[in-house]
Amino acid sequence: MRPSSLTYHVALLAVLFFPTVFALKTADWKTCSQAGFCRRGRALSARAKEHRSWKSPYSVDASSIAVASDQASFTAAVTSSLYPKINFGLELRIHKDGVVRVRMDEVGGLRKRYDEAASWALIEAPETSHDIKWTVGKKDARALYGPKKDIEVVVSFEPLKVVLLRKGREQVVLNGRGLLHMEHFKKKGDSVEVKPEDIPEEGLDIEDEAQKVMKLSPGAWFEGDSEDAWWEESFSSWTDTKPKGPESLSLDISFPNHGHVYGIPQHATRLDLPTTTGDTPTYTDPYRLYNADVFEYHASSPMSLYGSIPVMHAHSSDSTVAIFNAVGSETWIDLAHPSPKSTETHWISESGILDVFILPGPTPEDIFGQYARLTGTPALPAHWALGYHQCRWNYISSDDIRGVQKRFDEEDMPVDVFWLDIEYSEDHKYFIWDKKNFPDPVEMTKDVEAFGRKMVVIIDPHLKRTSDYPVFKAASELGVLVKNKDNNEYEGWCWSGSSSWIDFFNPASWDWWMKIFRTKKAKEWTWTESTESTYIWHDMNEPSVFNGPEITMPKDNIHYGGWEHRDVHNINGMLFPNITHQALIARSATPKRPFILTRAFYAGSQRFGAMWTGDNLGTWEHMAAGVQMVLANGIAGMTFCGSDVGGFFGNPEREMLVRWYQVGAFQPFFRAHGHIDTKRREPYLMEDPYKSMLRDILRLRYSMLPIWYTAFREASVTGIPVLRPHYVVFPHDEAGFSIDDQWFIGGSGLLVKPVTEKGVTEASIYLAEDQVYYDYFTHYAHRGAAKGKHITVSAALHEIPLLARGGSIIPTRERRRRSSPLMKLDPFTLRVALDNRVSARGELYLDDGETFSHRDGQIVWREFVAEKPDKKAKTLRISSRDLVKEKPGEAIDGVALKNFSPSNNFAKSIESVRVEKIAVIGLSSKPKSVKVEGGQALEFVYDGGVAAGGKKEGVASVLIIKDPGVAISEDWAIVIDI
Ligand code: NOJ
Repeated sequence: MRPSSLTYHVALLAVLFFPTVFALKTADWKTCSQAGFCRRGRALSARAKEHRSWKSPYSVDASSIAVASDQASFTAAVTSSLYPKINFGLELRIHKDGVVRVRMDEVGGLRKRYDEAASWALIEAPETSHDIKWTVGKKDARALYGPKKDIEVVVSFEPLKVVLLRKGREQVVLNGRGLLHMEHFKKKGDSVEVKPEDIPEEGLDIEDEAQKVMKLSPGAWFEGDSEDAWWEESFSSWTDTKPKGPESLSLDISFPNHGHVYGIPQHATRLDLPTTTGDTPTYTDPYRLYNADVFEYHASSPMSLYGSIPVMHAHSSDSTVAIFNAVGSETWIDLAHPSPKSTETHWISESGILDVFILPGPTPEDIFGQYARLTGTPALPAHWALGYHQCRWNYISSDDIRGVQKRFDEEDMPVDVFWLDIEYSEDHKYFIWDKKNFPDPVEMTKDVEAFGRKMVVIIDPHLKRTSDYPVFKAASELGVLVKNKDNNEYEGWCWSGSSSWIDFFNPASWDWWMKIFRTKKAKEWTWTESTESTYIWHDMNEPSVFNGPEITMPKDNIHYGGWEHRDVHNINGMLFPNITHQALIARSATPKRPFILTRAFYAGSQRFGAMWTGDNLGTWEHMAAGVQMVLANGIAGMTFCGSDVGGFFGNPEREMLVRWYQVGAFQPFFRAHGHIDTKRREPYLMEDPYKSMLRDILRLRYSMLPIWYTAFREASVTGIPVLRPHYVVFPHDEAGFSIDDQWFIGGSGLLVKPVTEKGVTEASIYLAEDQVYYDYFTHYAHRGAAKGKHITVSAALHEIPLLARGGSIIPTRERRRRSSPLMKLDPFTLRVALDNRVSARGELYLDDGETFSHRDGQIVWREFVAEKPDKKAKTLRISSRDLVKEKPGEAIDGVALKNFSPSNNFAKSIESVRVEKIAVIGLSSKPKSVKVEGGQALEFVYDGGVAAGGKKEGVASVLIIKDPGVAISEDWAIVIDI
């Protein structure tokens, strides 16, 4: 039996016999103490703590500073007192938007360190500022900049330290604790180049242990006295030959005035990252970034998972700053709060140069913009991709897929996408259909397309090593497979048995891979048995190798350019969706927006599609952890994200399944999925009342597609995530900084807190402001408070705690359809949730949802505003205006609105689409009249609610204006005489 199949089956037994007690297994993955460079890094930090006068040996040679002609950057030589003959080069660069890039590399060393991580993550070379003037003194170099000239970067020379300040307050400090250490390349047997006699007596504090050690053994005080795992390293039965020797990089990054840090996904942990060092750390190991297929991962752990984004936000009520550490090798991060209002982190990477971007903020929104300008915004997904996805491992035949589709239709449950896992393929040779069970893949896909639906098919990265597999054969002939340490094709074990992996770092693989996806016959082998409605799921791309160290590739494998796998491991998985993304665009005459789901990811992966949180367990803990992970992924760019609804392992009981759908419906990527040995659990299989509850959830999601799509437009332009945690929306409200179980959906004003606990009938929601929040379903008006307040809402199994923030106008589509493309001409409902000042605003974005015609201006982008013309006015005016005209400076997908072509066929195609209902929530009295401005009087129904006026709580009033006779894509105004 295949090793992993065995583990999956052992897990299954655990699930069947001990439904809630999973056998959590961590021995397959290293702890820090089992990874030589992490051990060395932590030991360095321990020595620094022990020695009072610890001082970094790295310093800048002031005489070497060369400021570039643009004034925005300078280079300098850096030396280490420990290795005076080794040279390092430092470069400081300030970008146009204030981001500071700090690079350091060894100069003229025995080898070259990997320096291309940033080039895979960044969208382009960032423009440097024109606003900088470095002042170089004897002790430091400084630059004061920013629109208010309140940001300052100070590079101290001895020891080397980089500090970013705002208004004189330290925001980010690099090497403030002296833990910077770039292990230079050495030959075996080389020793420290400073001899004891070279160390001057004067100035030594003989009381201090560090200095004593320094005198006796110049290297040991800093590096320790053993060559710990420098030249070879074993873990379990694997040996890493480490041909390049030690080359790790340690760096401390402190946030002296920020007590909360978020990000560095992916880990199953709280959004507000718990500590790993200090007095009472939550975790004993550092956070690890090393893309890994971790079997049955813990619901609370700093262990690595499938993807790695070395981005960390540091937050306080004064400001937000962030770090993007562009490193592609295995990285461990220790975290401590020396005081509640400060944070220290220590980053230890196995290889690569130092390439750190400091994002100055000062607001979370600024951070998202600064990060998006570096690594790109999340791609605007196809509209259908926001619908419901039905997956399992596996739908066993084309007739099975047809049957599932039929049942969804019979039960009147909307669904957009059916998924095929690995068993569709013959012997796990991806692309090649198992014709016994899938005799007619193109017809099957067309049957699905008939209702506007799509198929997603899995393509794993391991290629079965057999000459009758055209994909493997071509890759081998082209020489684009990853090599082992002896420079032969690397062979490992995965689903398809003996397998090899494409090296997408090799440009020769790109064109070839892209051509495979053409649906028409060509000279080369192409996937003719697919259609333009076949989209792609890339799984196992960490890569997962069942018989490899830590279930992945050996680190001494070789990639294009001679780089070792260790140098590029965390980037490797991102290249697969990157090239497939381009392939799917290129395969159609009229390019369509691709959909690709990836399991592995890195900084910048947001440009290529969606990701999910991998093989979660069917437990309540995992349901809650999934929420935290989706929020953390989102703030690091991967906003198109979700967790397997139902849990991958296990058979969820009814209550759990209902709650899981409620969580999934409020995550950007909404897919149900389960392991091959789980019982079938499509929503139509439940008996009532559960079945009706699931149907209602699916319908609710579909009614809200306009909200999701509008939020994705914003994310695709600004980088602000679709799911917004409290600290993002209320950056000054300390009480919300650790909240990670409720969130806002885009800028819509919807606040949700799905239940993730068994047996719950009530939920407590935190309201951060003195504002009214209406229950989405009952219109009950909850009042917040300026200092924050918890309210209790009813949350029986059929209820989702969902509130509309006063001041929002929320567009929905309430007609029931089988799939989202069938909603194209459906009318809209506008919910106007009035705020304390009797006003509200909202947005709606629409385009054809599948092509790139939005880049030519084929869009509808509206703003709805409800306001009294002046304070004393006795009228409320609700209007719709064209944001394309209002905001010519804005851009969609990089194209400025003012450059759009005037013909807008999309707007014409939905000319007939009406607003069918306007619900105004929270008026204090029954209106005298309602009419279209300059037009006819409208019929309305008013329900005065129950005692909800002023500051009182109770069911708010609702005014329903039915069929106001206005079109969604036109300017109009409705006047309510109050
Ligand atoms: C692992 C993935 O995480 C899971 O979703 C998938 O079903 C299996 N591989 C089989 O392809």
